[in-house]
Amino acid sequence: MNFQNLLLEQPETGVYLLTVNRPRALNALNAATLAELTQAIAAVVADSAARVLLLTGAGEKAFVAGADIGEMQSLTAAQAQAFSEAGMRVMHALEALPVPAIALVQGYALGGGCELAMACDWIIAADSAVFGQPEVNLGIPPGFGGTQRLARLVGRARALELVTTARQVRADEALAIGLVTQVVPAAALRDRGLELARTIAAKAPVAVRLAKQAVHRGLDVDLGNACAQETAAFALAFASADQREGMRAFLEKRSAKFSGQ
Ligand code: CAA
Repeated sequence: MNFQNLLLEQPETGVYLLTVNRPRALNALNAATLAELTQAIAAVVADSAARVLLLTGAGEKAFVAGADIGEMQSLTAAQAQAFSEAGMRVMHALEALPVPAIALVQGYALGGGCELAMACDWIIAADSAVFGQPEVNLGIPPGFGGTQRLARLVGRARALELVTTARQVRADEALAIGLVTQVVPAAALRDRGLELARTIAAKAPVAVRLAKQAVHRGLDVDLGNACAQETAAFALAFASADQREGMRAFLEKRSAKFSGQ
């Protein structure tokens, strides 16, 4: 697919690498980029051979420095509502992506950039990463889900502190508060992402998809219903060829060859 503001590549079988590619604007998210992100995510959803999506930003300086301030400055309230809804659609689509989505964050992940990273299933940070929700400096609150996903990831008090002060958080603090799962040298970020993607791609594809769905759906409901959903996912896996192959391979003391069926 040809995009103006994105690169969508498949560096390895089943592994998609999606790069927000507006480095001169530090990869800021304008309406056109949001529309392209929606299309790119839909293309990954449509590929039943997809196993993992890695999401990053072009250049060393920024993952994504936020929603495009130049484009936002003259929005009316009604236009701002539509812009927020377009951003929310992208974030929801990432979360609902059937396969794991992993953000590889180097440099600034601010505002909409922090929100984009948090909409992925987890974040690997380069040691150069800087996270923050600086919207209150601009006279607005976050608008692409930052108040909600940050609170769910780091807790209400920390989220409120960060959102109301616009304080930026470096990679080591992001690791300590649970915003990211690991920190790697900037030069190793892409390789670490690919290594992780390879590990996931080698697992039973149906099981990986069911596990992701169970975690996300379960977090939206009470524990009893969440566990009932897990039971349904567990049972469904027993209708797959991969379950038979995975268990047979274990008992025969060999590596499983998963078909994704
Ligand atoms: N929107 C539009 N353009 C942006 C941008 C943004 N969010 N962030 C950076 N840029 C542009 C700059 O305007 C500049 O363009 P020019 O070269 O044409 O002047 C270019 O990217 C480089 O940026 P700087 O010169 O500012 O680089 P710096 O190293 O001095 O600073 C920075 C880097 C600290 C990230 C700074 O650019 C910055 O503070 N950016 C804005 C961060 C921000 O406030 N993000 C939140 C946006 S609001 C939002 O996201 C709302 C939401 O929740 C949906």
